[in-house]
Amino acid sequence: MKKVAVVFGGMSTEHDVSVVSGMSILKNLNKDKYDVYPIYIDKKGNWYEYQVDKDDLENIKIGDEISNSKKIENPLEYLKKMECVFPVLHGSYGEDGTIQGLFELIKVPYVGCKVLSSSISMDKAYTKMIFDKAKLNQTKYIYLKYTNGNYTYIDDELNTIEQTEDEVVKTAEQKLKYPMFVKPSNSGSSVGVNKANNAEELKQAINLAKQYDEKILIEQGVNGKEVECAVLEHNGKIEVSCVGEIKSAEEFYSFDSKYKNENSKTQIPANIDQTLAEQIRTQAKKAFKAVDGKGISRVDFFIEDGTNKIMINEINTMPGFTNISMYPKLFENIGLSYQELLDTLIG
Ligand SMILES: Nc1ncnc2c1ncn2[C@@H]1O[C@H](COP(=O)(O)OP(=O)(O)O)[C@@H](O)[C@H]1O
Ligand SMILES: [Mg+2]
Repeated sequence: MKKVAVVFGGMSTEHDVSVVSGMSILKNLNKDKYDVYPIYIDKKGNWYEYQVDKDDLENIKIGDEISNSKKIENPLEYLKKMECVFPVLHGSYGEDGTIQGLFELIKVPYVGCKVLSSSISMDKAYTKMIFDKAKLNQTKYIYLKYTNGNYTYIDDELNTIEQTEDEVVKTAEQKLKYPMFVKPSNSGSSVGVNKANNAEELKQAINLAKQYDEKILIEQGVNGKEVECAVLEHNGKIEVSCVGEIKSAEEFYSFDSKYKNENSKTQIPANIDQTLAEQIRTQAKKAFKAVDGKGISRVDFFIEDGTNKIMINEINTMPGFTNISMYPKLFENIGLSYQELLDTLIG
């Protein structure tokens, strides 16, 4: 039996989401094939062996506490005994290359993207640069930094130009049209993402985003459908799922809309024509290769109303993995079950 550690929780704003993904994986892993070690990382970064009760796995929800755990005093030694680690961690310290670096150092095999692809994909500003290089179409954007109380605008050639808050707003207004979306460059689950319809809201949104990361992106809003495509790589062979659509119950797919609003729905496959779906699948594969992806990713796009233009939004190297999450459901639709997906990823 293969010793597999499932690591969940973690120190990011997406801790609670990771716990639910982790529980789903624990529940579905084939116990006849794998000797499973559940590892919970709390928000402070402490590691625990989770003493699991099967009923708890079924019922855990976003925000539930993890109890019944025993502290792991030496996580490195603990991990070294594993034959595979599945880091089902979203966001900082889990999806950004840091924990992947640790696995590389101790030479333990792990599921998913390696250090470089994880860190590029976690940082929206750098993802955009790579997507530009790959000539993947995306909405217009500008990129800023906020350090030591000062804003720096970073132009297309990566020159840095100090600006006041008012100048930043002016730059955004010169380059982009309202509505705009402001985002921390490193974030996820829509945390710190806000929509701005005017200068006042733009300032507010910038001030919110800078609480999460010193790098801030301002994008021109796209009016259209939101669609997603799942990618699975195994021994160099890349499989792409069908395309699914997000039907957000709120003005945009915010944290609450994603996880708390039961009126938000997903539609699989998306209600779009075959040619468009094929183009999206091709672009999803291209994006995965552009970031040098491995194992798993979900690639998200907009389809602009009226023009049907495809615009790539982002790539997630450890997408939500509950049994109702988009990633496993997209593959289920093309005949790959949740359990088969886990077997492939671990394989
Ligand atoms: N340029 C944009 N135009 C329209 N909606 C956007 C844009 N950028 C983000 N959004 C909305 O905000 C949500 C979260 O933004 P996203 O970039 O996907 O961040 P996260 O990594 O947190 O998921 C998206 O799912 C979408 O609903
Ligand atoms: Mg997103």
